[in-house]
Amino acid sequence: MIKTFLTMLTVLVTVTTNAQTNDSILVQEQKMQWFKDAKLGIFIHWGLYAVDGIDESWSFFNGYISHEDYLKQIQGFTAKKYDPNQWVDLIKESGAKYAVITAKHHDGFALWNTKYGNLNAVKSAASKKDVLTPFVEKLRDNELKVGIYYSLPDWSYLDYTHFTRDSIRYKISDEPKRWDTFLKYYHGQLKELSEQYNPDLYWFDGDWEHSAEEWQAQKVREMLLEKNSNTILNSRLKGHGDYATPEQGMPITRPKNKYWELCMTMNDSWGYQKTDQNYKTVDQIIGVFSDVISNGGNLLLDIGPKADGSIPEEQASLLKGLGRWVHKHHEAIYETVSGIPKEHFYGPSTLSKDKQILYLFVKGNPNGEVVLRGLKNNINRIWVVGQGAKLEHQVVGKVYWSQYPGIKYIKVPDHVLDENMTVLALLLDGEVDLYREDGAVIESN
Ligand code: GLC
Repeated sequence: MIKTFLTMLTVLVTVTTNAQTNDSILVQEQKMQWFKDAKLGIFIHWGLYAVDGIDESWSFFNGYISHEDYLKQIQGFTAKKYDPNQWVDLIKESGAKYAVITAKHHDGFALWNTKYGNLNAVKSAASKKDVLTPFVEKLRDNELKVGIYYSLPDWSYLDYTHFTRDSIRYKISDEPKRWDTFLKYYHGQLKELSEQYNPDLYWFDGDWEHSAEEWQAQKVREMLLEKNSNTILNSRLKGHGDYATPEQGMPITRPKNKYWELCMTMNDSWGYQKTDQNYKTVDQIIGVFSDVISNGGNLLLDIGPKADGSIPEEQASLLKGLGRWVHKHHEAIYETVSGIPKEHFYGPSTLSKDKQILYLFVKGNPNGEVVLRGLKNNINRIWVVGQGAKLEHQVVGKVYWSQYPGIKYIKVPDHVLDENMTVLALLLDGEVDLYREDGAVIESN
């Protein structure tokens, strides 16, 4: 009797736990949906470092310049040409659906009117104004999602542990009260951000300097979600985030995390650096972007405005170049899911959500034809995305006595090619079905 009761109880508990897990997976999926569909975001690193054009925060941390001299840049942070309308127009033109701006980097300089300290754009910089609020407003006016980058470490704050690479102010175990002071400060700033801007996304950074317990990561997560249960947190909160953030290099294999975002600079710097002219080309950025979405991720492409608030010409023109391509090919980008394995098509691909349209991203000139292997579906129609032409295809190597579907050759004439990357849409006769069986043509059915 007791045994039966216990078994029933176990079953009940398992069912409820599973239901709860399914429930929270569903809730998580709903919350992450806009992010999953957005594909492209713009990262903005704007701060004191733009004045002299040096590494954001790291330049003093690593000892290339003294902290004192680093802070002198505050006199040059004028924001006098800052036009949030123009920023948002450019972001829209790029095709991005969200932006993430450095509200505060590791150097502690805040772009908003924080009541915590004086190191900010309003109280101590030449700008003498809050430069975050108008930007957030413009994003919202244009239905773009708002992302706030916030550095957990604050190397300028006197009660923070770390100062430079080789000088630490104190150890938490020696001065726990001092650490509490810092916790109040940083939690307080986050509260301000959440109350004033109610961000759609928080982009934390610098969690490596302390443990989850020390940061009180769980508490921070709860605090932010309490204000807005739909807000998304990136992974850099010591395991308390919603999505992974590989940096700079497109992962070679598909990331395991269901939600991920590659952050990448346009040249080799996050902030504006006059000496860094190593810009990627539009082709290269599109190449990385298509690889990212083909693998189910987002690209967070960085710009670094100048200290006066203007966006460097090179960066604006890359955003425009990317935007031309993204807008033309929007149907193959937004709201799609990751594509098919490379063995079937040697290039990036995406699929419509119902998996009945396969989009193939074709780099350069395929010399007349694109090859698709092991697709079991019949193709009802092929068209060139954003251009409209209907294309022919031929099936080669298909024999009636085998399941092997053969190779499909799609004829692509030169005149339909895009100047950066051509995208083909294939309307299939049902959900995509790939031949993944072992062996060659001869097999036993
Ligand atoms: C790194 C750096 C930081 C930069 C960030 C962007 O974590 O610390 O300077 O802002 O990457 O991803």
